[in-house]
Amino acid sequence: MKKAYVKSYGCQMNAYDAARMADVLGAEGFSATDSVEEADVVVLNTCHIREKAAEKVYSELGRLRVLKGERKARGLDTRIVVAGCVAQAEGAEIQARQPAVDVVVGPQSYHRLPELLARSRERRVVDTEFPVEDKFDHLPARRGLGASAFLTVQEGCDKFCAFCVVPYTRGAEVSRPVAAVLAEAGKLAAGGVREVTLIGQNVNAYHGAGADGAATGLADLVRAVAAIPGIARIRYTTSHPNDFDDALVRAHAEVPALMPYLHLPVQSGSDRILAAMNRRHTADAYRRLIDQVRAARPDIALSSDFIVGFPGETDADFAETLRLVRDIGFESAFSFKYSPRPGTPAAERADGVPESVMSARLAELQGLLDARRHAYQRAAVGQVFDVLVEKRGRHPGQVAGKTPHLLAVQFDAPAHHIGQVVPVRITEAGANSLFGALLPEAAAA
Ligand code: 5AD
Ligand code: SF4
Repeated sequence: MKKAYVKSYGCQMNAYDAARMADVLGAEGFSATDSVEEADVVVLNTCHIREKAAEKVYSELGRLRVLKGERKARGLDTRIVVAGCVAQAEGAEIQARQPAVDVVVGPQSYHRLPELLARSRERRVVDTEFPVEDKFDHLPARRGLGASAFLTVQEGCDKFCAFCVVPYTRGAEVSRPVAAVLAEAGKLAAGGVREVTLIGQNVNAYHGAGADGAATGLADLVRAVAAIPGIARIRYTTSHPNDFDDALVRAHAEVPALMPYLHLPVQSGSDRILAAMNRRHTADAYRRLIDQVRAARPDIALSSDFIVGFPGETDADFAETLRLVRDIGFESAFSFKYSPRPGTPAAERADGVPESVMSARLAELQGLLDARRHAYQRAAVGQVFDVLVEKRGRHPGQVAGKTPHLLAVQFDAPAHHIGQVVPVRITEAGANSLFGALLPEAAAA
């Protein structure tokens, strides 16, 4: 049997796309493998968001070239595919830099992988079209489903934040029709999925066509997915503050299946920098929105993204970011040094922040965020949470799952609990995950 190795970098949408590429190859008779050495097809699903992410691909490709040569010497063919956002952004340049690459395929055309692989036997192939046909209509059934699954509902972005490549790599905002989303969610539920994360680059801008053709917002989509039998939990990511409407705030108060966790990137706490980033909202507008969300769902866990060292960022601007972090008290967050990206407006600016300043700011911000995250995890000790059991744990006899607030928990329990939501008392907070004990009544069930 032919084998395929698919590796994904970057965001959850890339993880979703990678899973769907594995489905496409699976339908062609490829079995999935974790061992790149034995793979007949290797797919790297790449990320272009920061320079580091994009450059990682080329070092990986260098290793794959050697592997391809070794396999060839043993009479084995290896097809190397570069997919995802670097593929979209760089196209044929990738093959100019690394001739061992057989296929370059963008995020909107990977349903054509079998055909592209076949054509690549004649010559190298590049497909970074935004095709008129919808890839979702051409993808085979999903395989290898677990308890939790991603579901793409919206792609692309029209926001044009000054630092960001997404509008270029993922194109304009497109929402899938409600019926298509519900059909996919229904199949997921039938396949044993209990938790669905609705994903989009700008998911709360979702405006898919409903049954009557009228645009439907994310809040109504969440309610419709919650009504599907078997779906116990719904999450969504990633949102933009400006698309957060009252209906979505209300959904957090009213839809029990909508989990109390929100990833809402703010990027900076300085109004001057927010304006320069073209975020089109102020730090106080963000604070007010968070107040509303917390009023609707007081126990909501908040997460965000931050960029330090955006061009022109002063010590005073950075102090505003620290102030916002202290005011809000995020339960978790991601923070990055600004990375100039080709083709984005910010990359043209000459007032870049020195690397040493960026490093110092990142360390300070991460220190603050980590302290808060650790305090939050320690505060969980002693509490009981419903945990969706997703997989076996790191140690034999253990399983691993997530609380409603997306905290990872390991605890002793038989594997037949995988796919169930069970009550677990948190007993210990480790560095990256929590340990717990299944409540006795659940253990007996
Ligand atoms: N440099 C650094 N971080 C970036 N992000 C997006 N573009 C850049 C960039 N050019 C971060 C933002 C975004 C997250 C996915 O990545 O914080 O929310
Ligand atoms: Fe990376 Fe953005 Fe592409 Fe996701 S959409 S893989 S974050 S560049």
